[in-house]
Amino acid sequence: MPLPIIEPFRIKSVEPLRRTTREERREILRQAKYNLFNVHARDVLIDLLTDSGTAAMSNRQWAALMLGDESYAGSESYYRLKAAVDRLTGLPHLVPTHQGRAAEKILFQLLGGPGKVFLSNTFFDTTRANIEFTGAVAVDCVAPEAADLEREAPFKGNIDLGKMAAMLAEHAGRVAACILTVTNNSAGGQPVSLQNIRDARALLDRHGIPLYLDACRFAENAYFIKLREPGHADRSALEIAREMFSRVAGATFSGKKDALANMGGFLALRDGSLAEKARNLLTITEGFPTYGGMSGRDLDAMAAGLEEVLDEDYLEYRIASTAWTARGIKAKGVPIVNPPGGHAVYVDATAWLDHLAPEQLPGQALVNGLYEHYGIRTVEIGTVMFGKRDPATGALIPAARDLVRFAIPRRVYTQTHMEYVVEAMGELGAIRRSLPGYRAVTLPDFLPHFTAEFAPIA
Ligand SMILES: Cc1ncc(COP(=O)(O)O)c(C=O)c1O
Repeated sequence: MPLPIIEPFRIKSVEPLRRTTREERREILRQAKYNLFNVHARDVLIDLLTDSGTAAMSNRQWAALMLGDESYAGSESYYRLKAAVDRLTGLPHLVPTHQGRAAEKILFQLLGGPGKVFLSNTFFDTTRANIEFTGAVAVDCVAPEAADLEREAPFKGNIDLGKMAAMLAEHAGRVAACILTVTNNSAGGQPVSLQNIRDARALLDRHGIPLYLDACRFAENAYFIKLREPGHADRSALEIAREMFSRVAGATFSGKKDALANMGGFLALRDGSLAEKARNLLTITEGFPTYGGMSGRDLDAMAAGLEEVLDEDYLEYRIASTAWTARGIKAKGVPIVNPPGGHAVYVDATAWLDHLAPEQLPGQALVNGLYEHYGIRTVEIGTVMFGKRDPATGALIPAARDLVRFAIPRRVYTQTHMEYVVEAMGELGAIRRSLPGYRAVTLPDFLPHFTAEFAPIA
């Protein structure tokens, strides 16, 4: 047996977990209107709601907090973050924001507006919402193999260049930008190949349209390129990441993912005049350009995290531990997205809960069932999150399938915690057809999954 890939850290500070009973959780669910975003974190045993902002920071990051310079203007923390972003991206203009969606809001306020069209492999929900909020249209062009959950293709997050070309022709003169989401969160956390980034850029260049990265998980994507794309095995993750950024006009970034921080983000741009406009908007809503909605200590935590995340012992463990969890869940007979992505395991709830019609929200049913029985919190990525509505009736239009995402916070849970999750899925399998479906009781217009209220169908 080869030696196992171990967590490349030891634990210095711990947070106790609190157990609850199934009866308590049933009542908690009822009070939360069957939406796990309304559940108090103390009532969750294993929290796989998101990998966003949930990382355990390192001793080096905690030490960096003490160096935080809280000056309103010209903070040293800003310049340390700027140096880290320069080293990584080579993008000369840094606009710090309190998290990723604030960077998106600024970018799309500048590039968007009625009549404009944006293309992507798959837009994340906040990205789509920020585009649509300006009156523009967001079109997903993900590679067709993404729809085949069984297929073990290496880069199922790629953009489909053929569809992209067709969209460029159909919307000639209206396409404002293309945004590649790396890794492709809404399509199973799948990576995008370097060749796909290069090809997308070449195609866009022929139309004079800029390419941007939604770079939240750039390090996981770079490591997948190293592992899977021929010709890159001997390059460092940093080198690969640098090439990814070298191909784009800019990037939006959430420091809550691959900066191993609990808060933060930025917009990084190549064009100085666009950056100037972005800073003007930043000052109105986020803050002065050298802090942009973050305290100095948060800027420093991000700066340290951006370097740590490219440590290849960490990336090897990160990708291997997600794959271990995926293999375990799959071995229990649960249909998952193959191969597993970097930050999460995605379960096909529509296929697994085959006693429910798509209108009965199988994703929501699995999320609530897993919480009620085992205290595990996950999130639906499907009908509710995408929130497509019938304009006549206002009813949700079922997604092609409801996935449930088991997002794995960075450096937080041990293999035994994940073993609990795997075994829970095994047990739930035996009773899965007893889980009730759900109907939406209230649905907000934007990002409905956060605040929608549901009721079980008797
Ligand atoms: C791909 C992607 N883009 C953008 C965002 C938004 O980032 P934030 O939550 O920091 O606003 C997220 C957050 O989950 C994401 O996964």
